[in-house]
Amino acid sequence: MAQQPGFAIATRRLGRTGADVTILGYGAMELRGRGGPAIAAAEAGRLLNAVLDGGINLIDTSIDYGQSEELIGRYLARRRDEYFLASKCGCPLGRRVLPRHRRHDYRAARVTAGVEQSLRRLRTDRLDLVQVHFSPSRARLDADRTVETLATLRDQGKIRFIGMSGTLPHLPEHLAMGVFDVFQIPYSAVQREHEDLITTAAKAGAGTLIRGGVARGGPAKNWKSEPIDLTPGEGPRRWEAAGLRELLDGMNGTEFMLRFTLSHPDVSAAIVGTSEPGHLRANLAAAEKGPLPADLYAEACRRLGRPTGYRCRE
Ligand SMILES: NC(=O)c1ccc[n+]([C@@H]2O[C@H](COP(=O)([O-])OP(=O)(O)OC[C@H]3O[C@@H](n4cnc5c(N)ncnc54)[C@H](OP(=O)(O)O)[C@@H]3O)[C@@H](O)[C@H]2O)c1
Repeated sequence: MAQQPGFAIATRRLGRTGADVTILGYGAMELRGRGGPAIAAAEAGRLLNAVLDGGINLIDTSIDYGQSEELIGRYLARRRDEYFLASKCGCPLGRRVLPRHRRHDYRAARVTAGVEQSLRRLRTDRLDLVQVHFSPSRARLDADRTVETLATLRDQGKIRFIGMSGTLPHLPEHLAMGVFDVFQIPYSAVQREHEDLITTAAKAGAGTLIRGGVARGGPAKNWKSEPIDLTPGEGPRRWEAAGLRELLDGMNGTEFMLRFTLSHPDVSAAIVGTSEPGHLRANLAAAEKGPLPADLYAEACRRLGRPTGYRCRE
């Protein structure tokens, strides 16, 4: 890969963590290997270094993403001070890959062993953020004493901040708990069910990390790829129904999606995943342009109307 030119990517405060993260983060799920795109280790290493060289300072991964944590550890540990590192907890240990393994456990033994495993794989002595994966109910979190476990790990200096990967129907009760520093939430022009909850989170002082921010590249891939959490066909249906293609004005669909996502004033960052160096460069260039022009954003919102219908993933 040719050397990555640096891009001037704006930063935003990640809520009460106080970290200034680039509005484009890197979502490392596409590095999972089995179940995902084929990518050789050396290629992944070049891609990960291109992420940092391109100006990104935020990386999201998970125990659930196969070899992702190990690749980050192997290729980026020596640059550890250059990025805010987020992973997840509650996931089955070992090298398992979603979506087949959703047997999450939020009790102390699993959460603690998971954090220890992440530290080893990521070759670091601290995780900046650990997010509870898969949006369990408050009742389950309380019964499993998950927040207490994470607080203990924080007191031990192994993790710095506590987050929730939250979706409806449980996200409102996670917000009401008042204990999470960051929420990871799905959102894009075709997936606006959590639009207002992003604002609620930000108003409470939490950081907001957006997944699905380019709708999995759907518009650029003739919708062969679709947003996770939506009923199949719903993303393209919303895209067509709103006539968003007519608003592209020279942009491709992914640039439009990303800049729409970044136009939400309460989004801290979009963690966009890719296994393709060219897509990384395109996303960096789009993020450098920042949010959509105000009139275009207003017209897109007018055409999209209010969000409807949500099929919760559990
Ligand atoms: N907490 C959770 O439950 C959860 C669930 C899912 C994801 N996540 C996190 O969020 C990150 C992103 O989530 P996501 O993958 O659902 O959504 P996303 O970022 O909207 O979509 C990523 C997909 O879009 C494609 N893409 C990226 N840039 C593109 C471009 N410029 N042109 C065309 N296609 C492009 C990528 O494929 P190519 O490889 O072809 O570029 C990849 O398959 C993940 O990596 C992960 O860190 C968290």
